[in-house]
Amino acid sequence: MPYRLRDLLEQNRRWAEGVEASRPGFFTNLLQQQEPQYLWIGCADSRVPANEILGLLPGDVFVHRNVANVLVHSDLNALSVMQYAIDQLHVRHIMVVGHYGCGGVTAALHNRRVGLADNWLRHVQDVRNKHRGFLDSLPDDDARLRALCELNVLEQSLNVCETTVVQDAWARGQSVVTHGWVYGLHNGLLQDLEMTIRNADEVQPAYARALAAVHLRRGGSAPSALPSATRLANPGET
Ligand code: CO
Repeated sequence: MPYRLRDLLEQNRRWAEGVEASRPGFFTNLLQQQEPQYLWIGCADSRVPANEILGLLPGDVFVHRNVANVLVHSDLNALSVMQYAIDQLHVRHIMVVGHYGCGGVTAALHNRRVGLADNWLRHVQDVRNKHRGFLDSLPDDDARLRALCELNVLEQSLNVCETTVVQDAWARGQSVVTHGWVYGLHNGLLQDLEMTIRNADEVQPAYARALAAVHLRRGGSAPSALPSATRLANPGET
């Protein structure tokens, strides 16, 4: 829906007045500090805004978004967001949030060229290739897309757990719980993919359980041989 920029600024003024009217001092209190409990790693898609979906106001959720909610170990932008959120803000939960009907995941699934982003989406194609046998067994492209949207959440959640930032937080006993969720554009609802991980020992079992659940949801049987998640080295282990 097109708006004139002047309308956007006017809407912003009314929004700020409304917030201040319902919660006097809201903005001046936020000036002092931010204490978000949550780090949201999601897709840049305009239909998946973190705060609105969670019903949260400014100050409640630290957000990183990119095309297809990818977390790779060489992405200094994402790693810096994670490091600041965990070390400085002490967020307690990190949620990797994918969504059904994701354009980036669709392009990756079908080798569709979209431009420079093809290189970024190679990471999602890696997920596709890792699970190619399962995806090929599904009856149609709709089922494959839904499955790949879920699998991408699982794999990116795994990447989050493998970062030095999260590993170091767990090693020093800091409470950080990671979650994998997927959002339905069609109904506005979040679904927990039950990849909830509280420490390094839970990574492999949680990944295996969540992956089996993806297979069962898509009408298959749980995989007999799970694609292995990279073994995490415990701190001090060589
Ligand atoms: Co998307």
